[in-house]
Amino acid sequence: MSKYKNIESLIEKKKSEVSDLDTLEKFRLNFLGKKGEISLLMKELSQLDADARKQQAEELNIIKDSVLKFVKDKTAELQNEAMQGQLTSESLDLSLPVNSQNGTIHPVTQVIEEVIAIFGDLDFFVAEGPEVETDYNNFTALNTSEHHPARQMHDTFYVNSSTDNMPNVLRTHTSPVQIRSMLKQKPPIRLIAPGKTFRRDDDQTHTPMFHQVEGLVIDNESNMSHLKGCLETFLKSFFETDSLKMRFRPSHFPFTEPSAEVDIGYKKKGNQLIIGEGDDWLEILGCGMVHPNVLKNVNINPDEYQGYAFGMGIERLAMLKYGISDLRTFFDNDLRWNKHYGFSSINIPSLIGDLS
Ligand code: PHE
Repeated sequence: MSKYKNIESLIEKKKSEVSDLDTLEKFRLNFLGKKGEISLLMKELSQLDADARKQQAEELNIIKDSVLKFVKDKTAELQNEAMQGQLTSESLDLSLPVNSQNGTIHPVTQVIEEVIAIFGDLDFFVAEGPEVETDYNNFTALNTSEHHPARQMHDTFYVNSSTDNMPNVLRTHTSPVQIRSMLKQKPPIRLIAPGKTFRRDDDQTHTPMFHQVEGLVIDNESNMSHLKGCLETFLKSFFETDSLKMRFRPSHFPFTEPSAEVDIGYKKKGNQLIIGEGDDWLEILGCGMVHPNVLKNVNINPDEYQGYAFGMGIERLAMLKYGISDLRTFFDNDLRWNKHYGFSSINIPSLIGDLS
């Protein structure tokens, strides 16, 4: 009969007393802790002669392993039970009807979703970049050298950089996502990058934080007419009108050559703007063919690849489509405004269902 029968029955008895992770830990210490029962028996082995030591050590190790296994299995079992308990107590009933007091989708989010739905259908994927950006990605890599006047025009917020002495900025546009994406991925590239942008400006038509969406296509055949076709498809889809009029005006951006600004035709009826009718023009976005210097800066050979880029303001798109007249109201968090201009969280924009 085993010398260790007593301890074995003690283990069995104590096992039945384990009911949670605390009592399990006590159980473990009771047997395997420094002064635990098994540890003490292990120490006693040294007093035995070699043969007896070997035989009893074997027996004791089997008991020790079975205790270890119990602790391991029981821990998993108790943790699983705790997790199941938490999952049941936190469960959500998604079939509950929407309460009219619930929030709405903000027009900025709605427009971003609409833009993604349209460009998704044109094979663009969504890219992201950080809001705190390096000065290099925001300007230099985009062919905007240190003394370029465009830097002043952007009214930049500078941020202390903790990693090196180079300044960081709150990105003044979404164009640095072009740089990050081209460094990560080789052409062909078709991306849009929606997100927050920041400039030191605050009046009826400017807020220090606003949203843009960037577009970038790089391959070895894109040209200005592809750019025009792409933007025309987008704008007609977005404003949900086939009669949209569009004109390209020569412009300048350091990172595109040639560059253009795009206007769309509209007419004013009372306080309302009607897009697609009339003879007045509204500026809606900036675009152009990606400058060869930008491609060189991301190690893409401009003799082999080319492409186009565009950038537009999300709030501006939202204001025009949904008849919102003051930019600042977007960020007032006035519940009445949110409810009036907000969208249902159930209707997700898609080209198959309703865009808006
Ligand atoms: N980044 C420009 C801006 O903020 C817009 C733009 C993007 C123009 C891409 C050309 C190409 O004004």
